Amino acid sequence: MKRTILVASTNPGKMGELRGMLDADVEWVGLSGFADVAEVEEDGVSFAENARKKACGYAEATGVWTIADDSGLVVDALGGEPGVRSARYSGEKLPGEERTLLDHRNMKKVLELLEGVPAEKRTARFVCCLCLASPKEILLETTGKVEGVITKEEIGSNGFGYDPIVFVPDLGKTVAQMMAEEKNAISHRGNAIRKLKPLLDELLGRG
Ligand code: IMP
Repeated sequence: MKRTILVASTNPGKMGELRGMLDADVEWVGLSGFADVAEVEEDGVSFAENARKKACGYAEATGVWTIADDSGLVVDALGGEPGVRSARYSGEKLPGEERTLLDHRNMKKVLELLEGVPAEKRTARFVCCLCLASPKEILLETTGKVEGVITKEEIGSNGFGYDPIVFVPDLGKTVAQMMAEEKNAISHRGNAIRKLKPLLDELLGRG
């Protein structure tokens, strides 16, 4: 019988990405199938801790193997910030505020804090931690990264979040100047999923 795995996200894009890239013989389900389950707080101090909390919390609550992720931007000159506060770095989303406005606020804060910081000290990376847990234990964990440099202004209009201010030197453009496939090929989330795939295949007996 196929193993059921819950993707602990309400974001359909993330679910599709995981299903597609992991390409495992699995019955994938989303959180929408478990309406009564209470939301697990993302109040950890690291991406890994948040991914673990969500995977273990939802696996315990549902009795189903669960995969969860946490991701964000780490800026060296800001001591690792925005880090786990990436989504709300400039404050909570205001009622009725478009997601893109919040993204602009967050980017503006990073750019202002880095004013006068020279290019060689503007190093940063996107980080994504994935965790797969059963109701009893953590089964697999991976981390993916993509290294970049924070620009002096927003460049490009693709993607979301901090993509317009993260310049990837290897490709000579910001993440927001990449097409979706190009981003997936180098992204922190793509890298974490690519690391997880052989481990999951082995766990499911297909290794
Ligand atoms: P989460 O893991 O979806 O909760 O992401 C937290 C926050 O990190 C997002 O709201 C974005 O601000 C930022 N972030 C995560 N991944 C990306 C990305 O691929 N591009 C740009 N921003 C990202």
